[in-house]
Amino acid sequence: MSDSKIVKLVDESTSRSSELPLLSGTLGPACIDIGTLYKDTGHFTYDPGYGSTASTKSAITYIDGDEGVLLYRGYPIEQLAEKSSFLEVAYLLLNGELPKKEEFSAFEHQITHHTMMHESLKDFFKGFHHDAHPMAMLAASVASLSAFYHDDIDVDNAEDRKLAAIRLIAKMPTIAAACFRYSIGWPFRYPRNNLEYVDRFLHMMFEVPSEPLELSPVAAKALDLLFILHADHEQNASTSTVRLVGSTGANPYASIAAGITALWGPAHGGANEAVLKMLEEIGSADKVETAVKRAKDKNDNFRLMGFGHRVYKNFDPRAKIIREMTHKVLNELGINDPLLDVAMKLEEAALKDDYFVERKLYPNVDFYSGIIYKALNIPTEMFTVMFAIARTAGWIAHWIEQHETPGARIGRPRQIYTGADVRNYMPVDKR
Ligand code: CMC
Repeated sequence: MSDSKIVKLVDESTSRSSELPLLSGTLGPACIDIGTLYKDTGHFTYDPGYGSTASTKSAITYIDGDEGVLLYRGYPIEQLAEKSSFLEVAYLLLNGELPKKEEFSAFEHQITHHTMMHESLKDFFKGFHHDAHPMAMLAASVASLSAFYHDDIDVDNAEDRKLAAIRLIAKMPTIAAACFRYSIGWPFRYPRNNLEYVDRFLHMMFEVPSEPLELSPVAAKALDLLFILHADHEQNASTSTVRLVGSTGANPYASIAAGITALWGPAHGGANEAVLKMLEEIGSADKVETAVKRAKDKNDNFRLMGFGHRVYKNFDPRAKIIREMTHKVLNELGINDPLLDVAMKLEEAALKDDYFVERKLYPNVDFYSGIIYKALNIPTEMFTVMFAIARTAGWIAHWIEQHETPGARIGRPRQIYTGADVRNYMPVDKR
């Protein structure tokens, strides 16, 4: 991190100026450190949506949006997708290095032995209406973990932070499966310690008392890969939410629950559910042209869900991997889904349309993931829950990094006030 160069900013109306250091990370463009700007010039900066603002330094994930590069702790996503597993990636995100054999065994053991939900959490579910959205149940249940583990959530204690990370990564699939089973009236399943992370989740989702469940290795491999691809994505909306909540000193379960609610929106993780609903609404390949026309019409709120990204302006490397996998998974499972034809026609039409080309709008990670989830019999309303299981690894890695960074301050943006000027209160009979 060098700060050798300086940018000088002068307010010509007052001649006040500020000398702002230029900060460089390991990779990526340098950033102007505006920390002293207000003190020096009396001005704040204005950047709605944070298009030009770095909110933190972080050593976890790197994205080059122009080149379509995504690195977790320096490792290219393509290599991790091909060679790693979700649990190994979770270890990497949390610890900064790939685990040695014995380190991984110890981590896997810890995760496996924290997968159970507190029995009282089952009763908590009974308070939900049967058709509650699983994301609503997930956010509330994760927030409620603060009540179950309040004795060891000292955010200043490194051991407590680590334990919270293990608990969250371990329990998320158990809670997620409970959300699904509650919504269809099936009895909850206990986690099976003899199964690996993803198989254990699939077992908790789909096992019924009346017949044995044969776990599909294709399904497990596909899900593990999707979890790797979704595990982290630097300062996206939900991770920034976790950090903002975390900056107040809030406990890890409250901070992650806030991340879950931020993820739910259709502009973020809720896009995977929205993509599938959109593809179903379009219905057939011959209706694709009308959908593209609607997406371009500024008087129509309709957007092509699963298209566009704030950072990727060339291609989303995750989408490239998922696209290939979708064909493979559907072939291997012997599924012929007409929605895949609609998706491919839509992708083809958008990629040659000037509107999408000029704005650099490409399919993102969520465009194809829903088709795979559907092939694995995961209901549409659970899609964003799947994203949340995976992103928990990234969220908690950021939350820990934030607490390990000396001198961290509460997050507190400023505003440009556009309301009424100062005025006097008038008694009601004089208004
Ligand atoms: N369909 C049609 N037009 C679009 C789309 C789209 N999906 N996305 C962006 N645009 C247009 C937008 O109207 C604007 O046009 P103009 O310049 O004429 O005003 C231009 O492209 C720039 O868009 P923006 O909204 O300023 O871009 P943003 O960086 O603020 O938003 C986005 C990024 C992902 C929220 C947006 O592209 C979007 O809403 N996409 C659909 C939802 C989606 O797929 N979200 C998942 C994102 S990836 C996974 C994740 O983050 O969780």
